[in-house]
Amino acid sequence: MYVDATKKRGINMDLRGRSFLKILDHSKEEIEYLIDLAMRFKEMKRDKIRHDYLRGKNIVLLFEKTSTRTRCAFEVAAMDLGMGVTNLDPRSCQMGKKESTEDTAKVLGRMYDAIEYRGFAQKVVEEIALNAGVPVYNGLTNEFHPTQMLADIMTIREELNKDHIKVCYLGDAANNVANSLMVTCAKLGIDFSACGPSSLMPEKHLVEICQDIALDSGSKLSFSDKIEKAAKDADVIYTDVWVSMGEPDSVWKERIELLKPYQVNDKVMALASKDAIFMHCLPSFHDLDTDIAKDIYKRFKISEMEVTDKVFRSEKSVVYRQAENRMHTIKALLYATLNDEEEMI
Ligand code: CP
Ligand code: NVA
Repeated sequence: MYVDATKKRGINMDLRGRSFLKILDHSKEEIEYLIDLAMRFKEMKRDKIRHDYLRGKNIVLLFEKTSTRTRCAFEVAAMDLGMGVTNLDPRSCQMGKKESTEDTAKVLGRMYDAIEYRGFAQKVVEEIALNAGVPVYNGLTNEFHPTQMLADIMTIREELNKDHIKVCYLGDAANNVANSLMVTCAKLGIDFSACGPSSLMPEKHLVEICQDIALDSGSKLSFSDKIEKAAKDADVIYTDVWVSMGEPDSVWKERIELLKPYQVNDKVMALASKDAIFMHCLPSFHDLDTDIAKDIYKRFKISEMEVTDKVFRSEKSVVYRQAENRMHTIKALLYATLNDEEEMI
């Protein structure tokens, strides 16, 4: 049974001034502390208890790739906490074109208390953090999506009342969400199986790091192209899009051929445990109601991609609750890193 980490230790973690760039930088206790805090913020929001603890502080949000959840989660979380928010479209500012990442970070860090950045290479968000002098949050890079993980673990804790969890990720296991999920499971002692073609597995170096972490946490990590083995008795079936933002349109054909056998459908859900849940970071191609899905249908005659519409809309699917938790967990992250009161909530 999951125990509130702050109550268990009777102390609060001090994350003040820390950036959140990848789950690898944080301990199990720190991750669990953020989730506990998020649960409290969720209750406060539900009970309409004012929680504008960060009045007078300001955050700038930089999105080089599109976003609905991450952007709105940061914006609403910051506003609920009483912060000022600037959305800075990198295409309409000097960054990259007339000004280096280093100079931009140094300037923004003198005006803002925190910076959120979604972009391409992980090294860019790391460079911003190195130069800003204020906490920097990774809102997704090609390699990692750490804030997504806080919401995912919070959702698993809420939905599954179990000590030992097995997560099975099917599809493009080389992408940012799969990488982050593997690291998070390894840290938290959750079993993780990646299931997909061998050419779309997490990088060897990251796998080795996670295997070392798993030795301590007791997590079992496995990598397989056999769905029967990977999904068997899983508590969580997780998938993500087959082509991620920033990848060229030309990869669709090969990805569809490679990943079609790994679509989450009724057969996959039947292999999982009886009470298994379906998770997806979203957005998802589960029907033909998007421009991209319509275009893919015209070109490849496939009307559902990584998950069938039936599973996506089924009772086992927790995707919208998972999406809501992005806001509560990001709020916890902002509070934990920016609050400068002696007494934390
Ligand atoms: N899951 C997620 O990051 O969604 P957005 O791309 O809408 O932010
Ligand atoms: N892997 C996806 C995640 C979107 C939240 C992407 O990078 O596009």
